[in-house]
Parts: sequence; structure tokens; C-alpha cells
Amino acid sequence: MGAGASEFVVVANRLPVDLETLPDGSTRWKRSPGGLVTALEPILRGKSGAWVGWPGVPDTDLGPIVEDGIELHPVRLSSQEVADYYEGFSNATLWPLYHDVIVKPVYDRSWWNAYVEVNRRFAEAASEAAAEGATVWIQDYQLQLVPKMLRMLRPDLTIGFFLHIPFPPVELFMQMPWRTEIVEGLLGADLIGFHLPGGAQNFLYLARRLAGQPTSRGNVGVRSKLGVVQVGFRNVRVGAFPISIDSGKLDELSRSKVVRDRAKQIRKELGNPKRIMLGVDRLDYTKGIDVRLNAIRELLEEGRIDPAENIMVQLATPSRERVESYIQMRGDIEQQVGRINGEFGQVGRPVVHYLHRPIPREELVAFFVAADVMLVTPLRDGMNLVAKEYVACRSDLGGALLLSEFTGAAAELRQAYLTNPHDLDGVKDSMVEALTQDREAGRRRMRALRRQVLAHDVDRWAKSFLSALARDSVAGSALLVD
Ligand code: ADP
Ligand code: F6P
Repeated sequence: MGAGASEFVVVANRLPVDLETLPDGSTRWKRSPGGLVTALEPILRGKSGAWVGWPGVPDTDLGPIVEDGIELHPVRLSSQEVADYYEGFSNATLWPLYHDVIVKPVYDRSWWNAYVEVNRRFAEAASEAAAEGATVWIQDYQLQLVPKMLRMLRPDLTIGFFLHIPFPPVELFMQMPWRTEIVEGLLGADLIGFHLPGGAQNFLYLARRLAGQPTSRGNVGVRSKLGVVQVGFRNVRVGAFPISIDSGKLDELSRSKVVRDRAKQIRKELGNPKRIMLGVDRLDYTKGIDVRLNAIRELLEEGRIDPAENIMVQLATPSRERVESYIQMRGDIEQQVGRINGEFGQVGRPVVHYLHRPIPREELVAFFVAADVMLVTPLRDGMNLVAKEYVACRSDLGGALLLSEFTGAAAELRQAYLTNPHDLDGVKDSMVEALTQDREAGRRRMRALRRQVLAHDVDRWAKSFLSALARDSVAGSALLVD
């Protein structure tokens, strides 16, 4: 296969833009928001970069295009492949397995075959885009076989892989019928990145047990002390690189007059309640939206919070809407919202305001500024960027962050009100504590949280991963990459 022209190639399930069909049948590119795109874009431009990914709609044949200075290489997926590879193996097998089997993973052989087939197509597209000796950075659980496939096609490349979701405990990963293939697929990379040291250690154990490769034994650090797996003559390094957000940009936006004015207006539109609680999530069963709604309902029933003074806003982006577990969960959440409002709301004054749609960035920031307590209660989450976004938007040092211990962010945001989402009484107590916090104590917590989030931004994340990838591998060594 011939080499392409790009020195740096990102490979992700989705392109940084989605192809959108307008009501008149015409199409246009709609920018996909998100920290990853913002972080990788400047790096891509500076290095004559390319992005390989799916344009978000099935059965679309598109050649490479240049959008905003980045070369995009669309990968075609048929409707059947979207059902089997994306909705099936990626989001009804891997997603629940890697998130502590909150719902039961489905192991379907035809989905696995589609996953192999589509991963091969991504590897071929990456191979066609990459110049001789280029660096290729593969992203996330949808593409775990690509590192090995690409190495076989192009041994000249430097290959990195980053997993954006949790890597599961060994006992759970062992359920996977194709566990050895997945571990061997990842071992095609030169550097494999996880959010947390725990994920990296789980992987090292599995590389020994399933792929039979010798590995380093010491503890993996955060952006330091990489683990090593020896695969033939190659050293594959394994590390923890917690992702972050473009904190500086969000901080700036949240200070703007237009956002401040909109935040005041939001409070007014909500009836100027004493306290506003806010949830912002993709509508996903991992996010624990049900946990926070149950906590609020019980607190209202027990008279510990007053519905006239405390309200909640839940902004929920539609997600994976054809996957069965998502359909069921949406029904459950909407029933819970209806029940709370039916029992405790007044005409024109619901207790829970629920929007099932994506919210424009500026409006979202205004909600962060307006909210007194941010509710982040996932049962499991690789990182949770929303928690960091809230902190970045609170230059006034106001507000409180209620944060599940089961998020990657909890490892860094220690001054949040940390809570165990499986312990409903504990969640209720933490919620009341956050709602009634002393102003000065709250400011101290927020100041400490902001120090962490502003110092560790997404640019630093990308640079720490890529500089480790660029470094020569040294077997068994403790490498410092920060
Ligand atoms: P995940 O990657 O699982 O969706 P994260 O919290 O890490 O979870 O990232 C979610 C991203 O999507 C954040 O940048 C957040 O601001 C954005 N987002 C979540 N919900 C909404 C919403 N209702 N409207 C607009 N953006 C949203
Ligand atoms: O963070 C996990 C992740 O699956 C990303 O890979 C993806 O960009 C995001 O969540 C949204 O998911 P989807 O692409 O399935 O809409």
C-alpha cells in the first residue's frame, strides 16, 4: 500500500465534523464540538495533519476533503455496519463491558465480524493517508484492532493509541470472547494511553496473561513511570494521561458580559429560586441521571429540601437512540421527571426542568455560571469533562461540584463533594451539604479545583502523550514525560 502525504494522522470513529442533511435535502458539514477536536486541531494544522473517521451518516461515499485546513479522510460505513459495528459491538458490547457491566453486554459473533471488517477499513484508510515514517494517533474503544492491523500494513509508522473510556477490571474483561484478539490488537501500538494508572495496570496484567508477553512489574504513574510490554523486538509502552478541556477558553467565555447577562436571565426565567441544581450529560445509563433524580425525590418526600426554593435543570443530549438499553433508559428517566413534577411541582413551576436536546456552547456556559450545585453522578465514567467544564466556568468562585467517586475526574478534583452513587443516603447527604455550604468554605474548595483544572488543560494532555510517543522506548524503565 502506497504512502500518503500526512506526517501526523488522527484516526477516530467520527470525523471532527458531521455531515448534516438539511430539510431541503442539501448537505453541509457541521462542526463536532468537544475538547478532543479543539486539542488536536492546532497540532494537526502545524504538522500537515489528516483526520480519518466516519462522517456520521451511513452509505455515504466521499473522497478526501480539506475543511478548515485539515485533510479529512471519510470512511464509509453501510447501514448494516452502523448497526453491527457501531450500535452493536461498540455500544452494546464494549461500552457496557468497559463500564462495569451496568447493563449486560451482548456477545454477538456477527457484530464481532463487522468490528474486525470496519477496523480493517480504518487501518487501510490511515495507511493511505500517512506519509513514510509518519505518526498516527488512534482514538478509543471503537478502533482497538487498528494498531496491529496498521502496523502490519505500515511497519515504518509510529503508532499511538488512547482509550477515552475506562479500561475494565481483569475479571470483567475476561468475559469477552475475543479478549486475546483485542489485547493483541492494542499491542500493535508503540504507546497505549489510559486516563488512570489503574487501567494501565489492568492492561499490563492482561498482556502477560492473554498475549503471553513479558511486562514491567512496577506501578504506573500519572504522566510518569510508563509500563512496558515486550512484543518480539518491540517495546510497547503503557501509561496514564488524564484528558482535560480547553480551560483557558472556557474561563474567558464564562467571564464575558453576554454569558453573565444570560446567566442572570436564566435564573429569572426559572423564577429566581434560592438554589439551582444542574445536570449536563449525554443521555447514557452510565451517567447516573436516575441516581440524582432519586436523591432529589427522597429529599423532597422527607421535607429536607423545599420545592419552592430548590429546582433542578437536566440538559440531556440524545445519544445512540437506536440501542435498546438507551431507549429503555430514556423512558425511565422521563417517567422519574414526570413523577417528581407531578408530586411536587406547581402550575408553571416544575421542580425538574428537563431538555432532551444538545445546547449551544455559549448557552451551556451560561447554565454553568447560573448553577449553584453541579450534579455529576455517574456509576462509571472514564473522565467526565462536564465536571471540569463547570469548574473552569466559575471564576467567581461560586457554586459547588457534587462528583461521583466513580469518575476519572474524581482522582484529580479532590475538593469536590465526592460521593458514592451506589449509596443513595450518602448522595442525599452530600447533596444537602453542597446546597447549604458555607460561602467562604465553598470559595476555598472552588479555588483549589480551579487551580487543578486551569493548570492541566487539554493542550498539556496532548503534548504529554505525543512527547512520550516521540521518545525512544526503553524496556522496563521509569520514564518521566511531564
Ligand atoms: P461523554 O464523553 O461520555 O459524553 P463527557 O462529560 O466527558 O462525557 O463529555 C461530554 C461533552 O459533551 C462535554 O463537552 C459536554 O459539555 C458536552 N455535552 C453534554 N451534554 C450536553 C448538552 N445537553 N448540550 C451540549 N453539550 C453537551
Ligand atoms: O467518550 C466516549 C465516546 O464514545 C467518544 O468516543 C465519542 O466521541 C463520544 O463518546 C460520543 O459518542 P458517539 O460517537 O457514540 O455519539
